[in-house]
Amino acid sequence: MALFRFLLNDEIVETEAPAGMAVLDFVRDRVGLKGTKHACREGDCGACLVLLGELTSSGELHYRALTSCLLPIGEAEGRHLVTVEGLAGAGLGPVQQAIVDEGASQCGFCTPGFVVAMTGHLLNTESFELDEALIALAGNLCRCTGYASIRRAIAYLLDDLRGTVEDGPDRIAALTRAGVLPPYFTTVGERLAALESLSPEGAADGPLVAGGSDLYVQRLHELEPATPRLLLRELPAGIHTEDCDLVLSATTTAEDLKRSAVLRATLGDLSRFLDLICSEPVRQRATIGGNIVNASPIGDMTILLLALDAELVLACESERRRTPLRAFYRGYKQVDLGPGEIIESVRFPATRRSGAFNFEKVSKRTYLDIASVNSAAWLRLDGDRIDEAILSAGGVAPIPMRLAATEALLAGQRISAELARRAADVARAEVKPISDVRGSADYKRLLLGQLVIAHLHVLCGIDARELVEAAG
Ligand SMILES: Cc1cc2nc3c(=O)[nH]c(=O)nc-3n(C[C@H](O)[C@H](O)[C@H](O)COP(=O)(O)OP(=O)(O)OC[C@H]3O[C@@H](n4cnc5c(N)ncnc54)[C@H](O)[C@@H]3O)c2cc1C
Ligand code: FES
Ligand code: FES
Repeated sequence: MALFRFLLNDEIVETEAPAGMAVLDFVRDRVGLKGTKHACREGDCGACLVLLGELTSSGELHYRALTSCLLPIGEAEGRHLVTVEGLAGAGLGPVQQAIVDEGASQCGFCTPGFVVAMTGHLLNTESFELDEALIALAGNLCRCTGYASIRRAIAYLLDDLRGTVEDGPDRIAALTRAGVLPPYFTTVGERLAALESLSPEGAADGPLVAGGSDLYVQRLHELEPATPRLLLRELPAGIHTEDCDLVLSATTTAEDLKRSAVLRATLGDLSRFLDLICSEPVRQRATIGGNIVNASPIGDMTILLLALDAELVLACESERRRTPLRAFYRGYKQVDLGPGEIIESVRFPATRRSGAFNFEKVSKRTYLDIASVNSAAWLRLDGDRIDEAILSAGGVAPIPMRLAATEALLAGQRISAELARRAADVARAEVKPISDVRGSADYKRLLLGQLVIAHLHVLCGIDARELVEAAG
């Protein structure tokens, strides 16, 4: 077993625990810190949240709230792992006090998760606005208190801290002064910098894990005793331009996509689409490479990238090859990936900025749910004509697919409500959905037609009333 070392709350810990063990099990069963709650174990409830802090390449300390049930303990090596116990000061801090004052806790099972999520948000937010805080806490469920008092506690806290900790370069120092963080946090940066890595050896004997947000739900028992290959530790995330392409590292997460200035300059603000994907703690780990290789027919990031006609760069040791994403799927959950091969990056032409992009997702509930049907569209318009169209669709075939016949119909055509109606008909005809818990085949086919119409409404400005009349 490899030995690795990290800061757990205020203490340096050395452990020989298998790197694949979930942080949830490590802190509860090996260390006895029971504040981190064991509940859904699928990333769905937020009761197990912890903070993971790391020094960035510029030497800054950056924390994220993550679901410990999906997080391998190997990710903590050389970093600061914080459980709710590590947020306790001499008495109640402002986050806990706001919860008490507003009656926002009854049985208290969910409360540690809310405290960690709120602290993680305060460490990172620029806006101190309630709407943004509610997005950050959307993955935290409470079964007994009701959300009105929790919402009041968050609003009260933001009002209290806005102005005192909002400005200034050192958020950690400001939150420590405000009592949100205990005093030892001001020394963590230096302690991590001085923490010598034990360079854990021991070849990986488990699966390749990126964010683990699919794997820890699907294969927990295989991962827990293993030493998985932790891709996020070896392949840095990042988005840059190269040879007229936008290049996204395969370890780019959904949250990175949401926050990337490079991507925003090319495709506009994608946050309204990305907020429909998972909760923020899961988005912080859910990578594009994992989404593509998991090969779910409704993978949201895969559908987004298909409509940009993205290309994959596949790597095996020093060998590289490229393949279009549209050719990567061979059948249900079958992908064109050789033994030992990984997706290293995903790229698409930066000229996509000359078009307009849209994503539509329909699920049983709007947020925190996987899609019944999803679809993305990129259109290049020339006056009142569609010059070029790329459309993708999920949930309507065994694989995430391009709508080739619909694309061919739209290219070169004058924009009209009648064209939208014909495009919807063609899209319905070129897919083969199956009936399952997310809807019948007929429902999904109908839905896809509506999503194609929605794309043309959003991107071409076709009047909704004309669309209804064209539909007869
Ligand atoms: C609570 C919850 C909500 C979710 N909601 C959504 C949602 O709304 N929409 C959605 O699309 N998905 C959702 N997911 C699924 C999941 O988060 C995504 O599919 C995510 O992108 C998977 O990425 P990952 O890095 O976590 O993959 P992992 O779990 O680490 O890996 C998945 C698979 O891909 C392989 N792999 C990973 N990276 C690479 C690579 N670079 N090269 C080769 N193989 C690789 C792994 O070996 C594994 O087989 C949700 C998951 C959870 C737990
Ligand atoms: S136990 Fe529910 S998110 Fe981890
Ligand atoms: S207080 Fe009981 S689950 Fe939230």
